[in-house]
Amino acid sequence: MHEPDPLSRIDGAVAARADLIGGEDPTAFRLFNGHLEGDGRYVIDAYGATVVIYHHGEPLAEGDEAFSALVARLHERLPSVRTVILKERKSTLHDRRRGRVVSADRAEPVVGDVVREHGVRYAVDLLMRQDAGFYLDTRHLRRWLQDHGAGASVLNTFAYTGSLGVAARAGGASVLHTDRDARVLAVAKASYALNGFPVDRRDFRARDFWSFVRDRKGRGERFDVVVLDPPFFSSTTGGRVDLNRRTTQLVNKVRPLVQSGGKLVLVHNSLFVSGAELMRELDALCTGGWLRVDASIDVPEDVAGFASTRVRASVTDPAPFNHSTKIVVLEVRHR
Ligand SMILES: C[S@@+](CC[C@H](N)C(=O)[O-])C[C@H]1O[C@@H](n2cnc3c(N)ncnc32)[C@H](O)[C@@H]1O
Repeated sequence: MHEPDPLSRIDGAVAARADLIGGEDPTAFRLFNGHLEGDGRYVIDAYGATVVIYHHGEPLAEGDEAFSALVARLHERLPSVRTVILKERKSTLHDRRRGRVVSADRAEPVVGDVVREHGVRYAVDLLMRQDAGFYLDTRHLRRWLQDHGAGASVLNTFAYTGSLGVAARAGGASVLHTDRDARVLAVAKASYALNGFPVDRRDFRARDFWSFVRDRKGRGERFDVVVLDPPFFSSTTGGRVDLNRRTTQLVNKVRPLVQSGGKLVLVHNSLFVSGAELMRELDALCTGGWLRVDASIDVPEDVAGFASTRVRASVTDPAPFNHSTKIVVLEVRHR
């Protein structure tokens, strides 16, 4: 079979996103979804006037012609792009994995540091970590949290740069963010400031998840909504997160922190757990009637791939979800 050249795949992907490109909201979206859209070497995201290219192939040689052609094509198709950042996933060098500016039209490169979504502003630090610090697959969840925020108390666990909690706060919730890393919580505070929300340091707790949850449980605290969006693996002296094996344990850990009738929002991003497997696990947790699957939330099409641009399937079948990032709202009841 004749394989289209990589640049024409990028052209097709860019054309499918015509509605998003140059729009005022959202300004952060996926331009090209590597594997699903036919070229596993690249995932390309837009953050305002900055494009981030994640390169999953072997580290690039200086002056790689195919890569230069890709950058040139992006500038040609997206005239508003000012800066291109390259993050090389397989590099042995930390700085290369975190990323560097490979193209800028000014001596002083403009690295987009604010994105806008559903009328809310988010601070981003695109070079701080190996990812860009703002997840595009949870855009519809941010909308849900904004819509369900009014008057709610929300606990944002594994908060990272806080985007899910910032969305809830924008909707009128009082939010407690927790993550073990104080540096990422500083970005969440910057997002509060951007939106004019007062920053109270008690709302941002740099703590290990396991001891934090134990302490709050000990105090009998409960929230209307608890967001559980962990990495697929993390091991500390407090405990182990392993979404391939231990989702039930994690859900049970935070359940007591949810008000009776409140919601536990689970974001499960393991590529290796199919949608059906996750649903089986949740159904088992729901027997007894104290937990109920209330809703699932889709991943936006620019991230999941459009029907017209998807050429490959996920590693495991995400159905009934539309992507390997599986987002479920669970309703919790207590005796
Ligand atoms: C996948 S991100 C969470 C994404 C986030 N909810 C968002 O929407 O941007 C993972 C975060 O979990 C944090 N983390 C990992 N293990 C942890 C632990 N044991 N306790 C607290 N935070 C942890 C990391 O510091 C990182 O910020």
